[in-house]
Amino acid sequence: MTADTQPEIVRTVDDLRSHITRWRAGGDTIGLVPTMGALHEGHLSLVRAARAQASKVVATLFVNPTQFGKNEDLGTYPRDEVRDRGMLAQGHVDVLFAPGVEQMYGPDDSTRIDVGELGACLDGEFRPGFFVGVATVVAKLLLQSLPDVAFFGEKDFQQLQVIRRMVSDLHIPVEICGVPTLREADGLALSSRNAYLTPEERRVAPTLYRVLNSIADVAGADGDLFKAVDEGTSELLSAGFASVDYLTVRNAATFQPVTTRRDLDGQPGRVLGAAKLGRARLIDNVGL
Ligand code: PAJ
Repeated sequence: MTADTQPEIVRTVDDLRSHITRWRAGGDTIGLVPTMGALHEGHLSLVRAARAQASKVVATLFVNPTQFGKNEDLGTYPRDEVRDRGMLAQGHVDVLFAPGVEQMYGPDDSTRIDVGELGACLDGEFRPGFFVGVATVVAKLLLQSLPDVAFFGEKDFQQLQVIRRMVSDLHIPVEICGVPTLREADGLALSSRNAYLTPEERRVAPTLYRVLNSIADVAGADGDLFKAVDEGTSELLSAGFASVDYLTVRNAATFQPVTTRRDLDGQPGRVLGAAKLGRARLIDNVGL
């Protein structure tokens, strides 16, 4: 493919599968990058990771209705396929799979995938049904394309772990690769929903990343985590955040709460936070 060629748009599972069958017959390997569009450099870092590991790259663009709650932004989620396709051309994506809702969810569709506690805690508590919607659509996308490897951002760390669990439990023969969070110069994690921030809110937004890092520092020094989380919550509220859904230190694999470094027993830990700022709900996380 020449530089900046637009990826071919595919709308049906049958078409997607015939591309992949042809590629496989020619000895290609396949990388999959699922997205909901409104693409930014964070998404492109997933595409670049895919490009580095596979000879063919499929990006998907589907605003998945089953992962939006009744009062969430399904209707207003930013949609611009022409712009997204142009961005994917920069990443040398081969195919853009952009199915309609009826292609992904037939009229009698009723199967849902629930990974249990891993998807019920943290974001799952504040967005009931969210991870059932995510696990279901990602299982569909993986089974439709059966890539060698699929790429997900650490930005949505709980989502990444839910998907790893689902793929392992269902024996889906696809490697899941986590990609580090891409950030603005001031630390704010790139996100499609940052577009909802006013200039003043945008100035305040990096406080979330700063607070997560100071909690990680306290955890690293085996300090008082209750105090660190309390102080972090106050800092977010006084900076201008309207509310804090959660700010917490967890075992990175099980999401069991961690009160001292010893709880981790040498396993990886993660500091995770979600907080509302104006119209936006920001989530972010850092490793310990
Ligand atoms: P979306 O929010 O479009 O994100 C698509 C992928 O990009 C996810 O894996 C997400 O973690 C990753 N991503 C977003 N911002 C990032 C950043 N700043 N750095 C690195 N990666 C980033 O997440 C979804 O869509 C959906 O839930 C989906 C998995 C597609 C299922 O519908």
